Amino acid sequence: MDPLTIDTVKLSGDALVIIDQTLLPNEVKYLSLRETPEICEAIRLLRVRGAPAIGVAAAFGAYLAAYYAPDAGLENTFLDACDQLAASRPTAVNLFWALDRMRSAFAKVSAKSPDEIRSALRAEAQAIMDEDIEISRSIGRFGLGLLRPGMGILTHCNAGTLATAKYGTALAPVYAALDAGLSSLRVYCDETRPLLQGARLSAFEMVSAGVDTTLLCDNMASSLMKAGKVDIIFVGCDRVARNGDAANKIGTSGVAILAAHYGIPFYVCAPSSTIDPAITTGADIPIEFRSPEEVTELWYQKRMAPEGVKVYNPAFDVTDAALITGIITERGLVRAPFEEGFAKLGLLGKR
Ligand code: MRU
Repeated sequence: MDPLTIDTVKLSGDALVIIDQTLLPNEVKYLSLRETPEICEAIRLLRVRGAPAIGVAAAFGAYLAAYYAPDAGLENTFLDACDQLAASRPTAVNLFWALDRMRSAFAKVSAKSPDEIRSALRAEAQAIMDEDIEISRSIGRFGLGLLRPGMGILTHCNAGTLATAKYGTALAPVYAALDAGLSSLRVYCDETRPLLQGARLSAFEMVSAGVDTTLLCDNMASSLMKAGKVDIIFVGCDRVARNGDAANKIGTSGVAILAAHYGIPFYVCAPSSTIDPAITTGADIPIEFRSPEEVTELWYQKRMAPEGVKVYNPAFDVTDAALITGIITERGLVRAPFEEGFAKLGLLGKR
């Protein structure tokens, strides 16, 4: 199956349709969601996941709340849905960015008829999705400029087409390479404990796309780098601070530290919606902590850790800007000092 034929998230008639990522790669199942609580739950449970994809899902969720609201309660229902959706996950700024856009779209037409409001909200959510596809393509083109035949690319978590409306961010350069006929790349996917987005999703995408793909456990990355197999690293991100500190899936900062040790270029792929101009450094990025069961029992036939043990399960970590070779945005590649580079490309606009 060509992974680019998958619709990660889209509006179909009167429902948000997502591919249930918790079931991949074993089962391809689409879910139709209509109500705000079920959309929030899908985001919380990672049925739809990846920073840009949850922004798009939330935007459609906000529109659907208005679509189903009675005329008299439209504003309250819409604003309440935005609040509920904003509480579904804390780290990816794309979620808040998309909801801010929906609130602004509402404010612009609030004096109009309920149906005009609904159609403006629908258009805004669709624009967020369409722009995301173009942004991902553009990141892919800039990333492609860094690739050469035969290179080994390491990635962590999944920042592929499943994490966006299409193409992905960290895997977008690989899709661009395939388009350009550069087919000799090797992709290494960190499995990405505890939720295995690398093994289940990135490996699925890359194998399905016909790419030479190798899966490794997270603790094998150092050995792979030492063996000289990794030429470049591409990762996605959930929030970038003004100084370039970048939050991404837990384990990313360790990969960056290893990359610095072995002299391997480490690139973060970040759509402008992931750059948070309100945050100065990574210390201010809120980190999601998830349930202990993800570590102690999920994926195991039987619980594998003793009852009573405490579990440390942050979903994200922050990679220091100093470890990042460059940040690939849809407007170009930014190198340190990042704040200056973002400003030059007009990426620090007000949220
Ligand atoms: O918890 P997840 O699976 O939503 O985490 C996703 C990541 O960390 C991705 O790398 C990030 O959102 C970028 S997706 C283009």
